[in-house]
Amino acid sequence: MEASLTLTQPDDWHVHLRDGAMLKQVARYTACRFRRAIIMPNLNPPVTTIAAATDYKKRILAATSDYPDFQPLMTAYLTDTIDGDELRAGYDEGIFSAAKLYPVNATTNSAFGVSDIKRIYPVLNIMQQIGMPLLVHGETVSPDIDIFDREAVFIETVMVPLLSEMPELKVVFEHITTKEAIDFVTAASDHVAATITAHHLQINRSDMLTGGIRPHLYCLPVAKRETHRQALRKAATSGNNRFFLGTDTAPHTTDEKESACGCAGIFSAPHALESYAQVFEEENALDKFEAFASLNGPAFYGLPINDRKISLIRTKQTIPEIIGSGELSVLPYRAGETITWKVRDTGEI
Ligand code: DOR
Ligand code: ZN
Repeated sequence: MEASLTLTQPDDWHVHLRDGAMLKQVARYTACRFRRAIIMPNLNPPVTTIAAATDYKKRILAATSDYPDFQPLMTAYLTDTIDGDELRAGYDEGIFSAAKLYPVNATTNSAFGVSDIKRIYPVLNIMQQIGMPLLVHGETVSPDIDIFDREAVFIETVMVPLLSEMPELKVVFEHITTKEAIDFVTAASDHVAATITAHHLQINRSDMLTGGIRPHLYCLPVAKRETHRQALRKAATSGNNRFFLGTDTAPHTTDEKESACGCAGIFSAPHALESYAQVFEEENALDKFEAFASLNGPAFYGLPINDRKISLIRTKQTIPEIIGSGELSVLPYRAGETITWKVRDTGEI
């Protein structure tokens, strides 16, 4: 059994850092582990302009000043009326690394999302031309579609037609949860990749609903049945360079989570790396961990591989029951559990 593991410092290709006091509280959990992070733009109001992204980036850098090497990679939030020239200029200037598609009302702060993808085809065409990645929340939301089928329906009704129309468009299918998504990405061209969260590798829908409803395991896309989780674990640990790490860490306060209508999102940043390591160990694939965590993402985004290393050691640690206090209390993923890996070298919080 491995006692320690050293790998190129990872990046997190899908992060919600929020804003204001919550940003100040949570940002360091990402910045102390990951060199770069793709920052989701679903603020209220959403990040749709160069000016808004520039300001938000400044606030993130201020919140992570203890980790000066941390690089937030900003994204634009696509709306029905998004300005293609603004996206092009933002990408050219290096302000936007990508743009995010939220189907309208699919998840947290998606009320300004896209109502029909065809409406933004002209903008997506620009992105295809300039090589700007499209990051996709891949769920079709409609009263007649079962919530557990949203991802599969999205593939058939949105992804397939989109890629047949724009085969050169770079697409990251974010936080995939189904075998259908794995099969789709595996069969697609190498312009298409996917991120996989630690929690979707570790929990299925029964975990969320057995012995009582567990709001802190509720996220979107919602965890699916066990066969899908097994397929995700196989894909993540396969060494296929189209799959890479994206935690989708998404903090909400305990009040927002433990409510009659609780918010979707799992705050996984503090121990996500350890959770991924555990999965790779259980799958006898620790030799594939570095590719998933540190190499495949930069290769897809056309960025250099990080020059620093980090180590994880095999030692028990217990995850805190709560992070923050009062109105800002947030339960971390696996709160109170004892886990087997611990990150060394990037500094403690
Ligand atoms: O669970 C989720 N939380 N899924 C998302 O797509 C958004 C995120 C959030 O912002 O809270
Ligand atoms: Zn997300």
